[in-house]
Amino acid sequence: MISLSPSLQARLSTPLKIGSFEVKSRVLQSPLSGVTDMVFRRLVRRYAPESMMYTEMVNATGLHYVKELPKIMEIDDNERPISIQLFDCRPDFLAEAAVMAVEEGADTVDINMGCPVNKITKNGGGSSLLRQPEVAEAIVRAVVKAVNVPVTVKTRIGWTDQEITILDFAKRMEDAGAQMITVHGRTRAQGYNGPAKWEWIKKVKEILSIPVIGNGDIFSVEAAVRCLEETGADGVMCSRGTLGYPFLVGEVDYFLKTGNLLEPPTPIQRLECAKEHLQALWEYKGDRGVRQARKHMTWYAKGFAGASELRGQLAVVDKVEHGLEFIDRAIERLANCNWQEVEGEEPILVEV
Ligand SMILES: Cc1cc2nc3c(=O)[nH]c(=O)nc-3n(C[C@H](O)[C@H](O)[C@H](O)COP(=O)(O)O)c2cc1C
Repeated sequence: MISLSPSLQARLSTPLKIGSFEVKSRVLQSPLSGVTDMVFRRLVRRYAPESMMYTEMVNATGLHYVKELPKIMEIDDNERPISIQLFDCRPDFLAEAAVMAVEEGADTVDINMGCPVNKITKNGGGSSLLRQPEVAEAIVRAVVKAVNVPVTVKTRIGWTDQEITILDFAKRMEDAGAQMITVHGRTRAQGYNGPAKWEWIKKVKEILSIPVIGNGDIFSVEAAVRCLEETGADGVMCSRGTLGYPFLVGEVDYFLKTGNLLEPPTPIQRLECAKEHLQALWEYKGDRGVRQARKHMTWYAKGFAGASELRGQLAVVDKVEHGLEFIDRAIERLANCNWQEVEGEEPILVEV
């Protein structure tokens, strides 16, 4: 049984203030490359109308040379509050990209200083900025100077366990003008493995005046509440927990505001959502959208009888109508049997 302590409730009862910008929710949907496009954000937004969303990360060098707004940077007028996330190592390119982000309607501009992927770090971007704090500072200063919306940073706790530099780094970001920092409690070397070390988020919160957002391993309402309690963070950001589950941010938000748990979606409701996601990706991106939808579909197809068979079908789908048909059949099977779900990794059904 999860409960919201009166002190936590009081702490979270005011809006999240990111510089001059206010957000009426303390849970954020993280930027996820290849995932948080407009279609995905619309689904998350339905259940979390007041939460902050992030685009996928956008390459500032690419923008500099192409000068054309990429699809991943498009935002809809009614999807606020939203932040556009940029990555690069060049302060001038990032400043230029930030101006384009604001023109597109971003409420804040976020700089990625946490991405562990080699392709990004070898060019000086993402988490490699943890090892070049002077460059990171110059980036924040240049972007702050270029735009009139708050500039924020998302980063990790350090490069390796032997090189946890987040305390000095976070202070530098604040001093350079960042208005909020999100700390993913893992090192670059960890990738996404091992537990997130929330204790470092707590330490960062203790030394900064700007809002600190906790990130890493927020897979449930219970984890969100525990992270807020243990770290004193001003908010939490959900990431992998939202893959195939765009309900999570809304569930956390509802609990933080009311102290009540929402009824979780049934397998059929999750599959209805998968259908809507597939259809919308196809409408937005055509056949490329269907190929992109494969991974989403396999994330949705979990936790009910027949899920692994459905995953196999959806993992290779190339026509939208085939995908919809496979899901419809799975829904029909679930709807027509008088069965009860048994919890587990791949639940089996027992007759009732
Ligand atoms: C598929 C995927 C894509 C990601 N893309 C981004 C990104 O574009 N920008 C970013 O700052 N972090 C990105 N991340 C990192 C997440 O935002 C988050 O920091 C990380 O997954 C830790 O949270 P979790 O343990 O709850 O998943 C990505 C993670 C995954 C799994």
